[in-house]
Amino acid sequence: MLEIKELKSPPSLELFSELVELLQDAVQGGASVGWLTPPSTKEARNYWSEVLEAVGRGERLLLVATDNHVCAGAVQVAMVHKPNARHRGEVQKLVVHSQYRRRGVGRTLLAAADKAAAARGLGLLVLDVRSDTGTEAFLKRCGYEFAGSIPGFVQVAGGGFEPTSIFYRRLAAGARA
Ligand SMILES: CC(C)(COP(=O)(O)OP(=O)(O)OC[C@H]1O[C@@H](n2cnc3c(N)ncnc32)[C@H](O)[C@@H]1OP(=O)(O)O)[C@@H](O)C(=O)NCCC(=O)NCCS
Repeated sequence: MLEIKELKSPPSLELFSELVELLQDAVQGGASVGWLTPPSTKEARNYWSEVLEAVGRGERLLLVATDNHVCAGAVQVAMVHKPNARHRGEVQKLVVHSQYRRRGVGRTLLAAADKAAAARGLGLLVLDVRSDTGTEAFLKRCGYEFAGSIPGFVQVAGGGFEPTSIFYRRLAAGARA
């Protein structure tokens, strides 16, 4: 059974290890989530430790999808603390494990992130995604609006550069942008 939980305290060691594997799986599959090649287990552990510290400081939300208690995906919302941007959040690192794709996990995770952000009073979510991937179709399907595209925004494995598309969503509840 698919469950979405917002992590507010450190996860079990088992879930932590699954998050490490989730990140490595995503980069291995070509996801543009910050790395050119899959992070080592040590790097990925450090990354998630920093994420959990930021969650503890109230700087970001972390939602995890589990299917029968196994991690199937995760998403983060980074809060913007600038005085003129407290209504805004950035959706980051939405990843569904390659073994769980096209089963509605991503859509459910993103809807849960929207809801958690609205509950914090946010009225606007933004995110960027590498252009010309199925992810753009996914985001439109999830109700996100396409704002535009920036050429040469991300470097990809092999050394080339690819454009990135910016998407946004106004949230029904919360502070209006
Ligand atoms: C993008 C991603 C999160 C989608 O997760 P998912 O669980 O497979 O997506 P869902 O099953 O919830 O898809 C919902 C709908 O989005 C659309 N969709 C999803 N993936 C798609 C793809 N690759 N190509 C075209 N449409 C797609 C479909 O309409 C789908 O509905 P359907 O399966 O009934 O046709 C996942 O492919 C992923 O982790 N990609 C790598 C990481 C990444 O690019 N992250 C950036 C996200 S902003």
